[in-house]
Amino acid sequence: MNVPVMEPSAVLQPVSCDSDVVAARQLARRLAVEIGFSRPDQALIATAVSELARNIVKYADEGEIELCTIASGTRFGIKVAARDRGPGVEDVELAMQDGYSTGNSLGLGLPGTRRIVDDFEIRSEPGRGLIVTVAKWR
Ligand SMILES: Nc1ncnc2c1ncn2[C@@H]1O[C@H](COP(=O)(O)OP(=O)(O)O)[C@@H](O)[C@H]1O
Ligand SMILES: [Mg+2]
Repeated sequence: MNVPVMEPSAVLQPVSCDSDVVAARQLARRLAVEIGFSRPDQALIATAVSELARNIVKYADEGEIELCTIASGTRFGIKVAARDRGPGVEDVELAMQDGYSTGNSLGLGLPGTRRIVDDFEIRSEPGRGLIVTVAKWR
């Protein structure tokens, strides 16, 4: 899937603890409000960002969430990049399956996020980190 190029006016949230997860979630919600997403979509976007940030803390210890608005013609949207330099994922297809978890949790974070957004891209370099990029259009 093609995710549009990141705009220069991006917000960067370092992520290494639970309060950073909360901060990323709030930034996402604020941006979603600014862009004019419906209340249900605001909640979905906040949840997606929260799940990606939580995965960083849990599986990679630290990383970052970058948020920005995107535009195409008269359409607006939000783009999120979650990056870390942790262990990455050996089998991305497996990690994307409902219920798959190496952390004894629900295993719904990544597949749930994919269902919520319009564009979803996951790039894993095993041993070197994970980048998940998603975009949602209003
Ligand atoms: N940032 C990450 N770095 C390394 N592995 C990850 C990362 N995010 C997710 N994973 C792997 O993908 C699996 C599925 O993630 P997810 O769907 O969020 O479910 P859960 O967090 O409940 O395990 C995780 O159990 C983990 O093995
Ligand atoms: Mg998770």
